[in-house]
Amino acid sequence: MAAKSKKSTAGAAWSGRFAEPVAARVQRYTASVGFDQRLAQHDIRGSRAHARMLRSVGILSQADLTKIERGLSTISREIAAGKFKWSLEAEDVHLNIERRLTALVGDAGKRLHTARSRNDQVATDIRLWLRDEIDEIAALLSALQKSLIGQAEKHAGTIMPGFTHLQVAQPVTFGHHLLAYVEMFERDRERLTDCRKRVDTLPLGAAALAGTSFPIRRERVARELGFARVAQNSLDAVSDRDFAIEFSAAASLVMLHISRLSEELVLWVNPRFAFISLPDRFCTGSSIMPQKKNPDVPELARGKSGRVFGHLVGLLTLMKGQPLAYNKDNQEDKEPLFDTVDTVKDTLAIFAEMMAGVKVNAKAMRAAALEGFSTATDLADYLVKKGLPFRDAHEAVARAVRFAEGDGATKKRDLAELTLAELRQFSDKIGRDIYRVLTPEGSVAARKHTGGTAPAQVIASAKAARARLPK
Ligand code: ARG
Repeated sequence: MAAKSKKSTAGAAWSGRFAEPVAARVQRYTASVGFDQRLAQHDIRGSRAHARMLRSVGILSQADLTKIERGLSTISREIAAGKFKWSLEAEDVHLNIERRLTALVGDAGKRLHTARSRNDQVATDIRLWLRDEIDEIAALLSALQKSLIGQAEKHAGTIMPGFTHLQVAQPVTFGHHLLAYVEMFERDRERLTDCRKRVDTLPLGAAALAGTSFPIRRERVARELGFARVAQNSLDAVSDRDFAIEFSAAASLVMLHISRLSEELVLWVNPRFAFISLPDRFCTGSSIMPQKKNPDVPELARGKSGRVFGHLVGLLTLMKGQPLAYNKDNQEDKEPLFDTVDTVKDTLAIFAEMMAGVKVNAKAMRAAALEGFSTATDLADYLVKKGLPFRDAHEAVARAVRFAEGDGATKKRDLAELTLAELRQFSDKIGRDIYRVLTPEGSVAARKHTGGTAPAQVIASAKAARARLPK
């Protein structure tokens, strides 16, 4: 007498197979509706396209399609208005919507899942969603680039020290320094655009794993949803998450670049540098030290890069041991992806505005560029141009620097502060024209080749970078 079980399992999509309902703790453990409801509008778009395709091959009647489309529109409005009742018992976004659809339109709602599985459904939803998010992130990246380019143009001639080993090395312009980040973010945009190509593939039609016995038309669904192509292997279609990992890797590099910039901002606002100040609305004070203005935003962004890198490693680990095809492990792909997208978008939006508001202390930057004999290389280059072999020039300048360092009795001077007679002790090739070479302005102006720091070159690079941005 197995026919009558005492506890009802009605309501769950697979209820007929089970003799007792799922344990409450297990229900909570396995449910994803708490987070995957974020995919709801994309799920509805996918369902609509699937239903229309089923109609086009005669699997659904026109009457059923009309009901399904009307029901899905109602659900879409309910969700947008925050009126939809999500139920843990229905496990995930897909079953919640299907259950509501059936309540609204009856049997037609139960027919929607013909020739489909949640496995190809969820893979489709994530791709639809991520494609939109990638477009938004790419737009935010170009907004940040635009704000950096604007500052670079303003500061094409602003002298600052260039560093190696965080020691003053040679003078550069602040504009040139900022354009380095524009290049990084340009590569980030390229990577996202490239990753988007592989996101842009339709898994729907793979069903659970083996495809379906119904005469479906996957190309029609792809066209309707704007996918560039249809996944070519049903097993791969439901189990592939490469696209999510690739996206996380690209997002990690975005955050890595943001983190490097953040580190520099933190240094530059420090009074010992005092190179820049950030707008007050991007800083906070201390609850105990009234004098403080802390660069919280760059610090937090530097910190948040860690969680995005963590999500990348999490997704790699999630996939590494999975046999073909779909496994429930994959439900764990969503939260890291959602958090990555939220973190990157918030960070980029804030940085685009913050970087446009950076105020530069040109005097402090220039003074710092004069420290540490930053034009020593220029003196060596000068001697080479006068016929000295580079190694000999290097040696002559090294001796000049040692002399300029002073010996306790004489105080330390910059090379430009030595008299001509003093300089000529180290090479008789040195003439009066050396003083133009030894200023930071002379040093940067001389580096006027492609990729160099000369103000004219910075203006040209900024213009070229602007031209690469989407209109
Ligand atoms: N919520 C599931 C996920 O995110 C949907 C697919 C479930 N498929 C299954 N066979 N249990 O992966």
